[in-house]
Amino acid sequence: MKISIVGGGYVGLVTGTCFAKLGHDVTLIEIDPEKVRAINKGMPPIFENGLENLLKQNAGKRIHASTGYESVTSAEIVFISVGTPPKPDGSANLSYIESASTSIGESLKNTSAYCVVVVKSTVPPGTTEKIVRPAVLRAAGKTEEEIGFAMNPEFLREGRAVEDFLHPDRIVIGSSDPRAGNRVAEVYQDIEAPVLRTGLTAAEMIKYTSNAFLATKISFSNEIGNICKNLGIDVYEVMKGVGLDPRIGPLFLNAGAGFGGSCFPKDVSALVSLAKDAGEDLILLRSVLDVNERQPHRMVVYLENRLGSVFGKRIAVLGLAFKDNTDDIRDSRAIPVIQDLLDKGAHVAAYDPMAGPVMQNVFPSIEYASSAADALRGADGCLVMTEWPEFSRLDKEFDLMAHPIIIEGRRILSRNGVEGICW
Ligand code: UGA
Repeated sequence: MKISIVGGGYVGLVTGTCFAKLGHDVTLIEIDPEKVRAINKGMPPIFENGLENLLKQNAGKRIHASTGYESVTSAEIVFISVGTPPKPDGSANLSYIESASTSIGESLKNTSAYCVVVVKSTVPPGTTEKIVRPAVLRAAGKTEEEIGFAMNPEFLREGRAVEDFLHPDRIVIGSSDPRAGNRVAEVYQDIEAPVLRTGLTAAEMIKYTSNAFLATKISFSNEIGNICKNLGIDVYEVMKGVGLDPRIGPLFLNAGAGFGGSCFPKDVSALVSLAKDAGEDLILLRSVLDVNERQPHRMVVYLENRLGSVFGKRIAVLGLAFKDNTDDIRDSRAIPVIQDLLDKGAHVAAYDPMAGPVMQNVFPSIEYASSAADALRGADGCLVMTEWPEFSRLDKEFDLMAHPIIIEGRRILSRNGVEGICW
């Protein structure tokens, strides 16, 4: 099928590359000419496991990138995967969605074939119907007989996105009429997964609800972890026992320094904000965010309990990315921790296998070590913030520290004497 995707960011690029692998003819519409050049050369502008290989195999053949909307005129289906960043009040900024919709509509003005416009970005319920549909139809001067609308949320985890795309646990297709939904289903026909057909707003709400529930599991585990630590109980043993109940499940019960990334914090805030506009106060989800805000600061409290003041002390921070296998630092729990340490006058020596260069934009003046050993050499304390597998293999490197005080925000070390944030 001929597919155009507006937005060559993380979701658009992974989706487009995987559609190309499935044999579709894909054009990515991306405003940034640098990214367009890189994609056309087969070089993904982001790091994602397995993506480079797939893009190299398909770039210039079944996937092309362009800054213009020309491809939309012959597309059978157009996906919108532009960003919906948070506004200062937590609500989602839909201006990129609106402008993409207008540009798509303008490109469809003189076409005669039926085309379906699909929202893939995470958007508040009602966006496809109330913003995208009118903007596209107005700019195209057409009716819904000629252009169909659908909403198809993504459930891709960073670092595992290609695998998640090709082996999803479900495909959700919301549409206002069966014809539009059928076309979206056709694009996915070679993927084996249960397909759930819904209305537009339900599909939009499924995405927010999924992320809000996963975030709730994490904050819940963190609260239980905090009390377990206090009572001398191992929260990982507790959650293992709890997760064996199929009504609860074992995943996303790992207590730690809280959730980060470009999705959970933003999506839960957006849900709280849109509920407020609808006259509902989401007490539970506000608390999920509150627990998450407080959690990382505990790292520094536990460090100070052991070390005393961190003023003038060398503190190694291992892990800057919001999770392993990515260089993404958006809402990383390492950020509030480093900020606390700097506010208290510590010397921060940070190391991350990938995210050091990006973090330099946030904290230009801390020390960026080129290895965990370099960060640990002479350190008075160490905070482990990201679950990188290479950190789990660290051992004698800790002997380089001046004082072996190690606090983990993720449970990965097997060394004796390590204190965990919740254990
Ligand atoms: C998340 C969802 O998992 C995807 O299903 C969704 O599609 C995506 O958001 C999105 O909305 O686009 P992602 O943000 O890539 O994916 O990362 P996760 O693997 O979900 O982890 C999020 C954060 O939670 C990380 O900081 C991680 O360390 C933390 N986490 C995760 C925990 O603290 N404990 C856990 O048990 C699991």
